[in-house]
Amino acid sequence: MKFFIDTANLAEIKEAQSLGVLDGVTTNPSLMAKEGITGKDNIFGHYKAICEIVDGDVSAEVISTDFDGIIREGEELVEIDDKIVVKVPMIKDGVKALKYFSNKGIRTNCTLIFSAGQALLAAKAGATYVSPFIGRLDDISTDGVALIEQIVLIYRNYGFDTQVLAASIRHPMHILQCAEIGADVMTGPLSAMLALLKHPLTDSGLEKFLADYQKGNQ
Ligand code: G3P
Repeated sequence: MKFFIDTANLAEIKEAQSLGVLDGVTTNPSLMAKEGITGKDNIFGHYKAICEIVDGDVSAEVISTDFDGIIREGEELVEIDDKIVVKVPMIKDGVKALKYFSNKGIRTNCTLIFSAGQALLAAKAGATYVSPFIGRLDDISTDGVALIEQIVLIYRNYGFDTQVLAASIRHPMHILQCAEIGADVMTGPLSAMLALLKHPLTDSGLEKFLADYQKGNQ
């Protein structure tokens, strides 16, 4: 399972990268705005800075909603760095753009996926990744993890190459549930990744090991 961090915060990306388990980064316009990154030049410069930190794929989202605009933006974004994956929304012109990019060998991440039908369409259009937003589904009393399970089954049935990128992860149990059902990638906040390493028995066990060492070496 690949671990992506879902942020545009460079300090958090550096911290996740230093753990040695980071496989990539996903961003979106809201995450960029949260870091105060505005204007095309600054946004493109920020993507470059992210690419210089991480070893893996970096999703950069288009803001156009018409075919020509999505293509123009996507082709500009991939010029920033080889690590860039063009993030395209699940809309009609987005599906057309996925097919166009796929034919050109440009990698894509189809975002704002909330149903298996949308994921099937994105895979048929040749998306590299699909991003079902599981946390946002849970927020409206719908089972986000069940959607991941459904998409994984459909892709396996037909041998689609599209990778299931579980997005809108909120906590460590989301990560584990997605791992159990075979999601290819999860993207979430640093806090969810760090929460995986915590266990009270690890802490108390380590405390005792260190105390016993001190007693024996006084
Ligand atoms: O980047 C897409 C997705 O992960 C957004 O998550 O937390 O805004 O629902 P969230």
